[in-house]
Amino acid sequence: MENFSYQNPTKLIFGEGQLEALKKEVPQYGTKVLLVYGGGSIKRNGLYAQVQSILSELGADVTELGGVEPNPRLTSVQKGIRLSQENGVQFILAVGGGSVLDCAKAIAAGVKYEGDVWDIITSKVTATEALPIGSVLTLAATGSEMNNNSVITNWETNEKYGWSSPATYPQFSILDPVYTYTVPRDQTVYGMVDIMSHVFEQYFHHVPNTLLQDRYCESLLKTVIETAPKLINDLENYDHRATILYAGTMALNKTLGMGTRGEWSTHEIEHAVSAVYDIPHGGGLAILFPNWMKHVMNENIERFKQFAVRVFDIAAEGKTDRDIALEGIEALRQFWNSIGAPSRLADYGIGEDKLEVMADKAMTRGSLGNFKKLSKEDVVEIYRTSL
Ligand code: NZQ
Ligand code: ZN
Repeated sequence: MENFSYQNPTKLIFGEGQLEALKKEVPQYGTKVLLVYGGGSIKRNGLYAQVQSILSELGADVTELGGVEPNPRLTSVQKGIRLSQENGVQFILAVGGGSVLDCAKAIAAGVKYEGDVWDIITSKVTATEALPIGSVLTLAATGSEMNNNSVITNWETNEKYGWSSPATYPQFSILDPVYTYTVPRDQTVYGMVDIMSHVFEQYFHHVPNTLLQDRYCESLLKTVIETAPKLINDLENYDHRATILYAGTMALNKTLGMGTRGEWSTHEIEHAVSAVYDIPHGGGLAILFPNWMKHVMNENIERFKQFAVRVFDIAAEGKTDRDIALEGIEALRQFWNSIGAPSRLADYGIGEDKLEVMADKAMTRGSLGNFKKLSKEDVVEIYRTSL
């Protein structure tokens, strides 16, 4: 394993009834609060009213930014920065899924940056300061609740980029599985695909001697595989929601990647699809990941064999490593299909006309991939096999 240093300042507050913790947490950061939320799910499930009631009890001066889009847009970030500056906001409370959290992070960094926030999102500059953020997470997927990443889309230029800064970890995140009961079945599935994909991005590497990291990854994958079919048939089951919510955080609070080198090319390749076609992130990953796997597996067939045998219990006897690896990838595809994830770009009405455009976007930031360096031609090929 490679040398590493790890620090994560986010306080994780998990379980039923933990919303009460807002009463203790928020006053530590100031009374002028920007409340950031999405398109209305928190109003429909009652969470908005509960949060407002606590904020009012605390005497907070609340400014609101609602309507943050899935695949959050630069325009929402800019609006949030303006509102924060006009109202002297001291603390940002994000209540929603990953999109809401990511938008809050960009606002938090943008408020403290004199230039254009797009410089931060495109990683031209690394934000060194940000307003403090707290979150109440309502959807298990991105891990944004306990990491410093944010992904923002510029819809005018069809660009979508992930960025991060040491200043954008949430100070605290409240995770109550009950608030995830209302996540629709399709979004629940996309979330679980995203969670598994985050594990894959950290599992497929060439770093030797990562025994513990491998087992952490495999146990997380097996846990999601075991729980997913139960959860999609019982969306208000506390235990299943709790398992997946916890899995989502652990998949991308960067503990799995300690001492290894992350891959992340399929995420870049998917972000380019979302940037052009505005599809759900997890849906795109379900389509692309098995095809990335097939494209790169010969770089380290042993690793794919290990994945097949340990995660999907593929019998190895009498088969070549390549056959075992392919069976593992096929088992993943079938598993995702079985829970209702899409498997072809055509499922979103995407044809071949913009493959080159998307590949250029995926490559904007230079080289792609650690497991295998990908050229533009490789990316086009992965898109083509995904049609
Ligand atoms: O907008 P509202 O009305 O809240 O509805 C949302 C949205 O329509 C709905 N939803 C969320 N919680 C709900 C709920 N509906 C009912 N009940 C609830 N409790 O779900 C829809 C999707 O929400 P969104 O926040 O977009 O989903 P997700 O958490 O999957 O976030 C996706 C975004 O995160 C980025 C993705 O690229 C995408 O832009 N990512 C962020 C990462 C990070 N910060 O670390 C890493 C990921 O790899 C990912 O790229
Ligand atoms: Zn993801």
